[in-house]
Amino acid sequence: MNRVPTKMEGLDEVLGGGIPAGSVVLVSGAPGTMKTSLTYHILHANALAGVRGLYVSLEQSRASLVDHTEGLGYRLEDTDGKLSILDLGTLRKKLTGSTAQPWMDLFKLYTQGIRKSFDYRLLVLDSLDALEILAKFREPRKEMFSLIHWLRDLQCTTFLLGELSTDMGANGSARTAYAKHKEEYLADGIFHLRLARQGEFGMQRQLRVVKMRGTRHDTGYHALVFDNGLRVTRILA
Ligand SMILES: Nc1ncnc2c1ncn2[C@@H]1O[C@H](COP(=O)(O)OP(=O)(O)O)[C@@H](O)[C@H]1O
Ligand SMILES: [Mg+2]
Repeated sequence: MNRVPTKMEGLDEVLGGGIPAGSVVLVSGAPGTMKTSLTYHILHANALAGVRGLYVSLEQSRASLVDHTEGLGYRLEDTDGKLSILDLGTLRKKLTGSTAQPWMDLFKLYTQGIRKSFDYRLLVLDSLDALEILAKFREPRKEMFSLIHWLRDLQCTTFLLGELSTDMGANGSARTAYAKHKEEYLADGIFHLRLARQGEFGMQRQLRVVKMRGTRHDTGYHALVFDNGLRVTRILA
């Protein structure tokens, strides 16, 4: 099977070499759990190896994203034009005259249009929640399903960033849902990022591969550490 390596120390081992090419992967976690950092790492590292990636940002401006990721040591200029950032919010503001193009159309138009001149293989949408709010989904579940199908037809490996929601199970017990509208059933893969309590005062960043179709993977939590770049390691008791 053709796999896309994450090129993150520790994570490709968990995934048996990487993510099956063409997968739609949810990256789920609360704010600050490094969803942006993790997916930018994957795009940056693949760009260095010559594989093109497009990062579509709705949550942050391009400048804020570049500031953050350069702070983590990912220099955009090193990618030799193989990593492209689409700042859809700023772009939409500039599109004066065209009276309020719907967000979903704009997203699809640009991701598809860019493909013609910049043949990217990896795509990040940061975030699904922002797109949902801006596009004012009337039937969220239906529109989410149709978006995921549309993304699958693009035939690149896609990362959809989002926050978690907690569903109440039938018996009243809380069940962690990795997505808001059952996208978790449609997605080929799910990464869950969290901050877990460690000791009395500490917190540790953790990552778990909840699901990855076509892959025999470890399903436990691993530590997500940032020192000389991001890496995944075993949790030490
Ligand atoms: N230069 C840095 N070095 C280490 N950690 C950083 C650095 N800059 C930001 N962070 C950490 O990254 C977090 C934000 O990560 P981010 O990828 O934006 O999360 P998310 O997208 O899940 O909200 C910050 O809350 C901070 O703890
Ligand atoms: Mg983010």
